[in-house]
Amino acid sequence: MQYVPFGKTGHQVSRLGFGMMRLPTKVVEGDKKVIDRDEAIRMLRYGIDHGINYVDTAYGYHDGESEIVTGLGLKDGYRERVLLTSKLPQWFVNKEEDMDRLLDEQLKKLDVSYLDFYLLHALHDEAFSKLQRLNYQKFLQKAQADGRIRHVGFSFHDSREVFLRIIDDYDWDMAQIQLNYLDDQFQAGVDGLYYAGEKGISVVVMEPLRGGALANPPESIKKSMEANSNGFSPVEWAFRYVGNFPQVVTILSGMSTMEQVQDNLRIFENVKPNSLTDEQKRFIGDLKNQYLARVKVGCTACDYCQPCPQGVKIPRIFRIYNESHMLGNPDALKWNYGALIKEKADGSQCVACGACEAACPQQLPIIDTLKLIDSEAR
Ligand SMILES: NC(=O)c1ccc[n+]([C@@H]2O[C@H](COP(=O)([O-])OP(=O)(O)OC[C@H]3O[C@@H](n4cnc5c(N)ncnc54)[C@H](OP(=O)(O)O)[C@@H]3O)[C@@H](O)[C@H]2O)c1
Repeated sequence: MQYVPFGKTGHQVSRLGFGMMRLPTKVVEGDKKVIDRDEAIRMLRYGIDHGINYVDTAYGYHDGESEIVTGLGLKDGYRERVLLTSKLPQWFVNKEEDMDRLLDEQLKKLDVSYLDFYLLHALHDEAFSKLQRLNYQKFLQKAQADGRIRHVGFSFHDSREVFLRIIDDYDWDMAQIQLNYLDDQFQAGVDGLYYAGEKGISVVVMEPLRGGALANPPESIKKSMEANSNGFSPVEWAFRYVGNFPQVVTILSGMSTMEQVQDNLRIFENVKPNSLTDEQKRFIGDLKNQYLARVKVGCTACDYCQPCPQGVKIPRIFRIYNESHMLGNPDALKWNYGALIKEKADGSQCVACGACEAACPQQLPIIDTLKLIDSEAR
C-alpha cells in the first residue's frame, strides 16, 4: 500500500480508501435488501489488515445501515487504526440545532466518541447557501472544540464555479470530489482539483470507476486495453489515472466483494503520484476518446429546448441515451427511460410541434431522434 501525507492534518493516509456505500447485500423478506454484515465486516477488516487506513461512510448509505455496520466493523481495536469519515446529511438540516442533533445521532450509530473527518454531504449551490444562513462554520468550530470531530470538509456535486465558491468560504482540511478519466471536466473537475491543491486543501476522490462502469468497458475498448503492452486491467487504468494526481490523497472505492478488495489492494501497491509515463497518459486520453466516440446525439444540455409544451425532458433523454451507448449498457437506457415514462416526460409525449428544433443552437433533428430513442428504449 502506498501512503501520502494528508495535507495540513499531519496524518499519513493510504491511497486506497474504503467507501462504505456499496457493501455486499442480501435479500430478506420480499425484495428488501440489507447489508450482509458478516461479509462486509470481514472485507473491511481484511482491507485494514492489509493497509487501508481511511474509511468513508455517511448518514444515508444503505438506507442508514452503513454507519451501523461501519461501527461494528471498527470494533475490536480497528477504530484506532483508521481515519474515520462521516457526513452531515444537509438535506435534513432546517435549523441550526439540527446539525448538532444529527452529528450526535451519527456518533451514536457508529458507537464512536469522535470522527476524524466530518463532511458536509453532497453540497450544491442551494444547499450551501442554506448552511451558510444556518451558520455552519459556528457548528463545525464548536464540534471541533468539544472533540466530536477533528477535521472538516465537504463532498461536492455541482459546477466548478460553485466548487470555487465553497472552497473559498472556509479553512477546509479536505474536499471530496467525483473524478475519473471520463469525468475530468465534470463538476469540480481537474481544474477544481488544482485549485484546491493550490490552497493546500487535500482532495479525496469518489467514483473513480464511475460507480463501476469503467470496470466493464464495451468490447472494443476492452480489446484495446488487452492489446496494450502495460497489461493493466480496466480497473487498474482507472485507478492509475486518478492516483497520478499529487493533489489527490485518497481514492475511495466502494467494494462489493472480497475479490474486489483483494484486487484493489494489489493495484494500489503501485498507484503513486506522478508515476504515469507520457505514453500511458496518451493511452488513457485515447480510451476517453473511444468512449466519447460512442456518443450518439450532440446535445450540449444548453436547455434552450426547455420547457417543452408537452413536458418532454429532451436533454435528459439525450443524456441517458448517450450514456448508455458510451458505456455499452442498454439495460441502463431501459431503466432510466422507464422513469421518464412514469413522469410522462418521455419521447412518446412529443406532438412534433417543432418548437424545440427551432430553438436548438445545435440544429439537432430532435423530433426524429426522440422517435428513434423511444423505440430503442422500450
Ligand atoms: N459524498 C458523496 O456524495 C458520494 C457519492 C458517491 C460516492 N461516495 C463515496 O465514495 C465511495 C466511492 O465511490 P463509488 O463506490 O461510486 O466508487 P467506484 O469505484 O466508482 O465504484 C464502485 C463499484 O466499482 C466496482 N468495482 C470496485 N472495485 C472493482 C474491481 N476490482 N473489479 C471490478 N469492479 C470493481 C463495483 O461494482 P459492482 O458492485 O457492480 O461490482 C463497485 O460497487 C463510495 O463508496 C462512497 O463512500 C460519496
